Amino acid sequence: MSQPPYVIIHSEPMLLCTILGRRRLQRVLYQTSWNAYFVLFPSFAVLLITSLAILSLWPQILLLKSSTSAEEGTNSTKVFKVRENLKESLPCSSLLGLNCDCNGTHQSSVLSPSLLQTKTKSCSPYHNWELFNADYQEMLKKLKIFVYPDVSMNNKSSPFARIFLPHPDPTDPKVGNYFSEHAFKLAFLRSPFVTQHPEKAHFFFMPFSINAMRNHPLLRSESSISNFVAKYVLRISSEFMFWNASGGADHFYVCCHSVGREAASKHIILRNNAIQLTCSSSYFQRLYSAHKDVALPQVWPRRSDKVLNPPNARNKLVFFAGRVQNSGIRQQLLTLWRNDTSFDIFSGHPSYPYEEGFRRSKYCLHVKGYEVNTARVSDAIHYGCIPVLISNYYDLPFANILDWSKFSIVVNQADVALLKHILTSVSEQTYLNLYQNLCMVRKHFKWHADPVSYDAFHMTAYQLWLRRGLHRLVT
Ligand SMILES: *[C@@H]1O[C@H](CO)[C@@H](O)[C@H](O)[C@H]1NC(C)=O
Ligand SMILES: *[C@@H]1O[C@H](CO)[C@@H](O)[C@H](O)[C@H]1NC(C)=O
Ligand SMILES: *[C@@H]1O[C@H](CO)[C@@H](O)[C@H](O)[C@H]1NC(C)=O
Ligand SMILES: *[C@@H]1O[C@H](CO)[C@@H](O)[C@H](O)[C@H]1NC(C)=O
Ligand SMILES: *[C@@H]1O[C@H](CO)[C@@H](O)[C@H](O)[C@H]1NC(C)=O
Repeated sequence: MSQPPYVIIHSEPMLLCTILGRRRLQRVLYQTSWNAYFVLFPSFAVLLITSLAILSLWPQILLLKSSTSAEEGTNSTKVFKVRENLKESLPCSSLLGLNCDCNGTHQSSVLSPSLLQTKTKSCSPYHNWELFNADYQEMLKKLKIFVYPDVSMNNKSSPFARIFLPHPDPTDPKVGNYFSEHAFKLAFLRSPFVTQHPEKAHFFFMPFSINAMRNHPLLRSESSISNFVAKYVLRISSEFMFWNASGGADHFYVCCHSVGREAASKHIILRNNAIQLTCSSSYFQRLYSAHKDVALPQVWPRRSDKVLNPPNARNKLVFFAGRVQNSGIRQQLLTLWRNDTSFDIFSGHPSYPYEEGFRRSKYCLHVKGYEVNTARVSDAIHYGCIPVLISNYYDLPFANILDWSKFSIVVNQADVALLKHILTSVSEQTYLNLYQNLCMVRKHFKWHADPVSYDAFHMTAYQLWLRRGLHRLVT
């Protein structure tokens, strides 16, 4: 594979802003309320500003094009260089004096409007903060979700009752890679989005837990799980009128990691219509439909936070530890870099505590294993280590809101041999910008039992909100 899928997406943030603006406009056209003008005018303004910005960058783009065409190297490296040059040419230096609060306790102060205004648009880790935030505030006021009653029934005569109940302690380390699935449910049940009035709901939540099925003695296997899910959908569609009313298009379920990937395989309408909130979000995953389904951040359960190591206290260039036999790309990585003293690459466990690797390193690799996704991305974000993503076709969480190129580095799998070159060509100033942006987006990758604004739960709910009202059969 030689296409650089992410690099293309990341090198066009302006275009994404335009798309977001346009989508907003389309929706507004259906509204007749006076309020619409408040939205319409800024949307035009955004389009105008975006066009002006693109025009003003045009000479640089042309210049870089002509200079890269003369260079050697693979195509994706060229794109990478273009992106780097563009970034350097933008006025990010004014940001370095800003104090980014990485304590994690000042959730809202980091997002204060004054800080965001100081950050020029081109340096911000958001495609368009104002547009996102205005719609997000509307979501807080209006989003309503109905959850099927199994979530609280605890039917003593059913052996499957606990599959639907919230997990008693999702931060138990045994929950591991499945944490996000439980964390979503717990936060949702404590959020104001829950409604007892299904006729007012934008969405319907099917509360089965893939992880609970995986641990259930009567289910366990991928095939029993998909049978159970198919039967469940048959049951709710005969007991309640909501499924048939939308063909399941306003229904969703949550799953994270391995066995959940095939959960919808035995019910064709579930698979085609319902929304899957899933960590296994790859454009090449058989049952993942990009744009319909939602990429869920995969997060490892943690009970406490520690203070971040600042950039100057990070003396290793790169950290990676994991099962190398899980993919060819990991094996290649080990072969290439295991003798390099600036790289800490471990097959299996590191020779020191795992977290230490994230704390002492500048860059932490997320390398495709059996899956495109792992908890390593959010581990890196959690410990303030810039994620380096080597996992082609990974549909990154919240990529329609967050500009991943402003707080991570994406490397095409075909370019592993260039890894050191790519990382050492990042200037110190660019690194500090990445770090500061990472601090700003950290809150979006955290789950809370009682949800906190802009956390992983709210960001995920916002993804649902963007998909509301699209496919109703009856009103
Ligand atoms: C670079 O792109 C050109 C044209 O798009 C293509 O012919 C060539 O094979 C690509 N090279 C690599 C190394 O991907
Ligand atoms: C984080 O900030 C809070 C509030 O100012 C403070 O009480 C706490 O000690 C800080 N934590 C660390 C680890 O610095
Ligand atoms: C409880 O579970 C049993 C066995 O599956 C079932 O027959 C019964 O209808 C369930 N009760 C309720 C209230 O759903
Ligand atoms: C929904 O449609 C299915 C299939 O057509 C039907 O069997 C079921 O009874 C319907 N449900 C309701 C509540 O009418
Ligand atoms: C790394 O060191 C080992 C053992 O010293 C050696 O066999 C191997 O060829 C070296 N690998 C590279 C890529 O230099």
